Parts: sequence; structure tokens; C-alpha cells
Amino acid sequence: MSILPTEAPRRFYVETWGCQMNELDSQRMAGQLMQQGLLPTRDATEADVILLNSCSVRDKAEHKVYSRLGQYRLLKQKRPGLLIGLCGCVAEQEGKRALSRVPDLDFVLGTARVGELSDVIKRRRRGERIVATGFTDQRHYEIDQISRQGEYKGMVTLIEGCDKRCTFCIVPLTRGPERSRPLSEVLREVRHLLDYGFREIELLGQTVNHWREPGGQEDFADLLDAVARIDGVERLRFVTSYPRDFTSAMVEQFARHPNICPYLHLPVQSGSDRMLRLMGRGYTVEQYRNLVAELRRARPEISLSTDLIVGFPGETEEDHRATLELVEEIRFGSFFAFKYSPRPGTAAPKLPNPVDDATAGRRLQELFRLQEPIQLGLNERLVGTRQDVLVTGWGKEPGVQKGRTVCHRVVHFAAGEAPVAPGEITAVEISRALPHSLLGRHLDAVPVAGTELASHVERHI
Ligand code: SAH
Ligand code: F3S
Repeated sequence: MSILPTEAPRRFYVETWGCQMNELDSQRMAGQLMQQGLLPTRDATEADVILLNSCSVRDKAEHKVYSRLGQYRLLKQKRPGLLIGLCGCVAEQEGKRALSRVPDLDFVLGTARVGELSDVIKRRRRGERIVATGFTDQRHYEIDQISRQGEYKGMVTLIEGCDKRCTFCIVPLTRGPERSRPLSEVLREVRHLLDYGFREIELLGQTVNHWREPGGQEDFADLLDAVARIDGVERLRFVTSYPRDFTSAMVEQFARHPNICPYLHLPVQSGSDRMLRLMGRGYTVEQYRNLVAELRRARPEISLSTDLIVGFPGETEEDHRATLELVEEIRFGSFFAFKYSPRPGTAAPKLPNPVDDATAGRRLQELFRLQEPIQLGLNERLVGTRQDVLVTGWGKEPGVQKGRTVCHRVVHFAAGEAPVAPGEITAVEISRALPHSLLGRHLDAVPVAGTELASHVERHI
């Protein structure tokens, strides 16, 4: 008798935009669907459930959501019974409006309601069109229900939401108030991920270093210390840190624990104090500079990355020059730079003297032009060195694998006869530097539990 099911399995397709929090939420949703017996697919046209996990941090991303939903709607003609769900930040922001704008949309699932997906789908199959948004005290967060398949690092939420009110940012509205998870729960999840075979742990939060033990005394420095001490945590990262909340005790952890990666994403947004004030960031350029110096004293090889916004209302050429100077001075390993985009419900759109699009575009280009040789110079220093690379997947060229160094640089190398499984750490000698990546020669794989990850992954699929 064949053990294969006679009916074709039902499949789901998840498209994810935006930050790591969304990536993890997609894994949580995939896990729930797999528990219901659905299988993942890479082809939306053969899916029975399509989830669009959206981002609304900038206006462009939000517009793309609606055009995407329009494309998915058309699939319903060929696939009766197909369910389409809008999830993530645009879902939270749009709520009911999305159902009226997109006639064939089946449900809208907000950021704090991810754990309710199975239930929402059941109700939809019974005929209800559902909008599940808003923030409640009750949360469904089942660590056993997260699908980690295909992932090379274990992501753990420390903090949900954000209580800062940066005047440009919609995140506090789409992700709700800040909620820290208890330390015991976090440690349990880290151990669970290590059992699963992950070697890199990434702690997540919009202001991850603002974590506090609910009702207790411990802060993020204590948590970092506790996680770094767990046997088997080979690489520990966390994102995103808020500069004002970064204490000396946190800096010390970089010196104390070699398994905390020498890499930190520390969004500065602007090199002008006037802009920082208008953005409501709560620190000065000087304080940021001092923090960077302290971090470099604690861990000289640390690589820093940042986020920058150009064309914020009222930004003058002088403010912009201050940002260029800061970028030149700090020498970030990389950065994300964006043109300011006015967001509904935030304070900044009401500020005077908006910057026109052409000026903002030119400023953005100036930043990228300045950064390119800096990045190339930093990457060139690694040529000839041996780097431990955590394999993340395949490059665009056939036979080329890619991965990340401890300082988060992208490395490409020829796979050879035995490709390395994603999630495994392997040694690569760096042979060439480009501005945005490194090329290298694959040395012998480090012979530890890496293959376990692959077998777990297969079992899970
Ligand atoms: N919590 C993080 C990141 C939030 S959003 C932090 O503390 O910085 C990620 C990045 O998007 C921000 O750092 C900012 O640079 C950018 N961003 C947010 N809102 C924006 C807007 N309205 N226009 C342009 N860029 C924006
Ligand atoms: Fe946004 Fe500022 Fe919070 S950038 S996510 S409001 S720290």
C-alpha cells in the first residue's frame, strides 16, 4: 500500500517584506499552516493560501502591497477556494479599509494577531470575512509552532512594539506599545533553537536594548550576559539598538563575550543635532560619537552599520553636510539610507519646510557615493584573512554559495563538490574585496553539528 496521500496536498505561499520582525512573523504563520497539514510552495500560482506580510515604514512599500494584492486576486479565477490574507504592518494600519479596497481579500491579520492565523482561516472557511487587528494583552506565541525551515539563524523576539515617538516613524502605530518577554521564556526559546541545530542566535526588537524583565530588575545587559553564556551559542547578534538606551554595561558585554558578534546596527538617522531634535531621537551627535568610541575601545574590530534619513522636513545643505561628515568620520561597514517619506499618524508631516524630492534624491546619491570607497577600503583589509562564514544560501551565479562573516559582511565562494548546508559555519579565505561583498576560497568545513540542521530542516519540510 502506498503511503503517499491520494489527494494533492494543499499548499501555502508567504511573501515577506520589511524587517526581521516580519520575517519571524512569517515563520510563525508558516508553522501554523504546516501544523494544519499545508505544505509550503515557492510558486504562488499553485497555492491554496497566500499571505502577504507587508511593511508600511515608507509610502512606496505600502503602495506596492495594493498592486501585489491585485495580482494575487487574479489567481482566484483559476484556483477556486484560494484564500488571500493581508498581514503585517499595512494590515494593522489599513484594517477594514483593505477589505473594501480589495474585493477578493479574505482576511486582514494585524501584527499582534499573528498567533491567531489558524483560527482566522477556519472562520474564513466557514464564510466570515475577518479583520483581526489591534493590540490585546493576551498573546499567542507558541515557540513550537514556528517554522524555521530554510532559515540559517534562530531569531528570538525580545521586545514587541515600540514606545518611542520618533516623529517620522509609523512603527509604534503598526506594532503597538512596547512589551518585553520574560527572561525565562527567552532563554527557553534560545535553548530550543540550539537543540534544533542553529549556531547563530539573533535577538529581535525595534529597540532591542530597551528590554526589561517584566516586573523585575534585569535589563538588556543582564540578558545578553545570560544568553551569551549558554553552551552552544556560537554567534549572538541583536537588532535594532537604540543609541540613547545603550549603556556602558551593555558595551562591556562585547568585551566579555567573544561569541557576541563584533557587529552592531546602531541607527543614527542624521549627523545634525537640529535634525535629531526634530526627529525626536533624544541624543546628540556627540553622544553617538562617544558611544561609538566606547564600543571600539571594548571591541576594536567591531563593525558598525546604521540607518540614515535624508530630506527630513527642514533639512538644510548644512544639516546634510553634517551627515556626510559623520559618515566619513565613523566609517560604517554599511548603511541603509532612505529619502524621508511622510507617514500617516506621525508628527513630522506637519513640520515646516519640506524638502523637494529632487534635492532629497541628490542627497541620497551623495551619501552612497561617499560610502562606496569607505566600504571598499574596510573590505580590502580582510583580503588574505581566514574568516568563519555562516552559510546563508546560494549566490546568483551557479555553484556559488554565500554567507556572512562574524562582522556581517557578505562572502561569496565556490561551493565545490560538497556544498555547505545553510546554517553551518565554514572557513573561507578572502581573496577579493568589492564594495558590497567579499569573494573567497572555501577552506575545510568546521566539523561540528552543522549537518544536524540539514536533517532537521528536511524533516520539517
Ligand atoms: N527601530 C529601529 C528601526 C525602525 S524602521 C530604529 O530605532 O531605528 C527602520 C528604519 O527605517 C529607520 O531606522 C529609519 O531610518 C527608516 N524610516 C523609518 N520611518 C521612515 C520614514 N517615514 N521615511 C524614511 N525612512 C524611514
Ligand atoms: Fe521607529 Fe523610533 Fe521606534 S525609528 S521603531 S519609533 S525607535
